[in-house]
Amino acid sequence: MYMRMLLIGLALYVVAASAYIPIPRPRYIECVDSRECAKNECCSIGMGRFSVPVCKAMPEAGEPCSPDANPVALNVTYPDNAFVRLKNIYYNVCPCNLGLTCTRGSSTCTDPTSQELFNNLDFY
Ligand SMILES: *[C@@H]1O[C@H](CO)[C@@H](O)[C@H](O)[C@H]1NC(C)=O
Repeated sequence: MYMRMLLIGLALYVVAASAYIPIPRPRYIECVDSRECAKNECCSIGMGRFSVPVCKAMPEAGEPCSPDANPVALNVTYPDNAFVRLKNIYYNVCPCNLGLTCTRGSSTCTDPTSQELFNNLDFY
């Protein structure tokens, strides 16, 4: 009985694998959309071939960022035939945390309000 179920299971697995039936949401996929992550996190994926999206913290003031970080949608497949649709995700680095902007040149997150204050200070 147990053996038969095992064999049926194995047969189903082989059929599924050979038919390339997409696996809906593998457990190793932490997020498919930044909205699934915490408020101060984004869903981020590396540039590598089978890179897996993970929730990452959005950089704080003084931390490195990418001035051109834009949310993207893409479809990815994995060696187990999993087909995953991603949207609103970022490559490598999350955008700066709320209220911060990524300063071009230094590529660090800065608080535009404190920057403004600093610029308006009259030293002499
Ligand atoms: C992802 O795949 C779906 C279904 O095949 C398709 O409709 C969609 O346009 C694809 N999205 C991207 C960003 O390639």
